Amino acid sequence: LPRLYHENVIDHYNNPRNVGSFDKNDPNVGTGLVGAPACGDVMKLQIKIDDESGKIVDACFKTFGCGSAIASSSVATEWVKGKSMEEVVTIKNTSSSLSHAFNFLSSKFLSALSSSHICIWEIAKHLALPPVKLHCSMLAEDAIKAAVKDVEAKRAKLNGSSNAAPIEKAADA
Ligand code: FES
Repeated sequence: LPRLYHENVIDHYNNPRNVGSFDKNDPNVGTGLVGAPACGDVMKLQIKIDDESGKIVDACFKTFGCGSAIASSSVATEWVKGKSMEEVVTIKNTSSSLSHAFNFLSSKFLSALSSSHICIWEIAKHLALPPVKLHCSMLAEDAIKAAVKDVEAKRAKLNGSSNAAPIEKAADA
């Protein structure tokens, strides 16, 4: 039988890292819940932020989907740890502008990319995903993006809450 998946996919599928959940009400936890309309797969990825430094200190996921989506989220949770939210978002903005070309790329081409292209490029490359499975790694990118957005909104709300009351009152009037 031909081997369909790279050994890294099989490794992360059989031994997924960081499976689990954080308390979504924790102000330092960001939750990204995303779905792929084409296949119906769903991914929840959470990040935990250090209060002081704002760095991502932990990450976990639960994915109801294909092996490539499970492997992509497992790799993503490892990848984001120790990075700042700015770093994650900046890199992803760069990579997502290129993502339209994704369906035309082969994994061979991906592996030839410079190692400075990280996130989905790096995940797809690490897992040697074929073009038909690239959307699985893009799901992980969307989940990271949503998790960062969530925790940023929570922290902004918390920081502004001590003097936000008059503004809320004004909005009601
Ligand atoms: Fe849809 Fe993999 S087939 S996420």
